[in-house]
Amino acid sequence: MQLQKIDHIGVAVPDLEAAIAAYTQLFGVGPSHREVVESDGVETVMFEVGESRIELLGATGPDSKITGFLAKRGGGIHHVAYGVEDVQASLEDLASMGMRLLDARPRKGAGGKLVGFVHPKSASGVLTELCQDDPAAAGHGG
Ligand code: CO
Repeated sequence: MQLQKIDHIGVAVPDLEAAIAAYTQLFGVGPSHREVVESDGVETVMFEVGESRIELLGATGPDSKITGFLAKRGGGIHHVAYGVEDVQASLEDLASMGMRLLDARPRKGAGGKLVGFVHPKSASGVLTELCQDDPAAAGHGG
């Protein structure tokens, strides 16, 4: 398994519109992508920063996957995402090393990516995402 780069850092925010305004000011340019991921109950907003990105995460309702995080911490760095060539193979490698996974198999994330998450307990307290471009989504935009 090879981690190719830090693809993005996810930042959970209690007020998505306020955060978008703040980051647009910070970067001098608006977000490149915005999408609701129904399965996670989040709306994600991507800003490009060189070859990496910042992903703002807002909850779409009380059942959001970030509700607990926001209640406990009031927002902040939520996860670090590494680009890999093959999420499935990487998850299998990590499992064989005894690491605890939140996803046994890749699933669809925002922006036409396949993603899989590693439990923070196996990554020094940091929720860790692996992502790759989804071959099935290639050529369809997003
Ligand atoms: Co992410």
